[in-house]
Amino acid sequence: MTQPAKILVIFGTRPEAIKLFPVIRALQADPRFTPMVCVSAQHRQMLDQVLDIAAIKPDYDLNLMQPGQTLDGLTAALLTELGKVMDAEQPARVIVQGDTATAMAGALAAYYRKIPVDHVEAGLRSGNIYHPWPEEVNRKIIGTIASLHFAPTQVAAGKLLAEQVPADRVHVTGNTVIDALKWVQTRIFAKPSLAGDLADLEHMFADRRIIGVTCHRRESFGDGMANIAEAIRRIAQRRDVAVIFPVHLNPNVRAVMGRALGQLSNVALIEPLDYPHFVRLLSIAEIMLTDSGGVQEEAPALGKPVLVMRETTERPEGVTAGTAKLVGTDVARIVTEIFTLLDDKAAYQAMARAHNPFGDGQSARRIVELIGNEVGQKLGHQA
Ligand code: UD1
Ligand code: UDP
Repeated sequence: MTQPAKILVIFGTRPEAIKLFPVIRALQADPRFTPMVCVSAQHRQMLDQVLDIAAIKPDYDLNLMQPGQTLDGLTAALLTELGKVMDAEQPARVIVQGDTATAMAGALAAYYRKIPVDHVEAGLRSGNIYHPWPEEVNRKIIGTIASLHFAPTQVAAGKLLAEQVPADRVHVTGNTVIDALKWVQTRIFAKPSLAGDLADLEHMFADRRIIGVTCHRRESFGDGMANIAEAIRRIAQRRDVAVIFPVHLNPNVRAVMGRALGQLSNVALIEPLDYPHFVRLLSIAEIMLTDSGGVQEEAPALGKPVLVMRETTERPEGVTAGTAKLVGTDVARIVTEIFTLLDDKAAYQAMARAHNPFGDGQSARRIVELIGNEVGQKLGHQA
């Protein structure tokens, strides 16, 4: 009998953890693989929230996060430290997800060792290297290196084919975020207390219409963040509205939001929520206002209109389907779009349609099957 293939799964931030835990679980359940988990801990607290709920115990924790870390300092440390893990473990393949510094450095370190890289959530492109920044380029670098490209949608697969990635390397699998969302919904259904800590806020805002907010994009630091804060302040002048805003731990976000919104009685600036509580927020919110990639994918699955505070998106599927709308970071535009959704029932109904352009909840199973085929073929060639 052949030895199980050692697969090194590398990630470091909250969204990567959310989107990779279904893959790790599927690998763990498959005797063809020995999965190993290496977290860079590019995020610390926000990563640990996901590891806890998904019961993932990393084999390596590089604990790299520095307060206010720079892109070059972080990337340099990632490349060196991830390389050491690969030298020690000599995995058959490496898995990375998405477009973060950890994913890009993980792919590059693997490439330097000629270890094949499998890319989960491949092919997203905005066509603008400064939006999202630096993620558009990170994702393209990984796409240049990857062995298997797991595109969440046909649109993403099309982008890879247009870049001359061979068609037999590109697989449309759906996005594993929908696997994660369904998994956590099942958990909450079985044990509602998993998402019970918002009860006080829900009670306090019971007669108000809830708007959920998140933001963290680097390209919005400075004027963009100030504009977002000002828009929220104006929206909160309506007495029928309450804003629940779990604030990202990035100091560039927290300072601005705390200063501008900290004193408003109908704006709850709260700590980052663990995944079950965030899914609860998605379910009680009437509208989501966000610049997040993951939230753009989750909100349509729950039938929540999502206003995206970006100029462009590498996830056009929600916009095409009419459940997401790009509103940029202009104060007047954000306020107008929110008020339209609050006051125009037809406009709201047109956006509030549950659908799943990003996946069916079976993506991790498909990905693991495809990696299994690849590993099996390689062994077959060697025999
Ligand atoms: C990173 C990713 C971005 C992803 C986002 C998800 C890069 C370049 N950026 O951006 O693609 O969309 O994560 O949230 O890879 N911090 C904490 N605790 C935490 C997390 C962050 O204190 O648990 C603070 C630290 O001061 C840290 C800073 O936030 O230095 C920035 O973290 P970093 O990962 O560099 O950038 P993000 O904006 O979170
Ligand atoms: N999320 C969470 N708690 C929060 C805010 C977001 O669990 O307080 C989840 C959200 O459901 C989504 C992911 O984190 O799955 C998005 O992460 P983020 O916006 O930080 O990164 P992006 O998706 O933009 O890369």
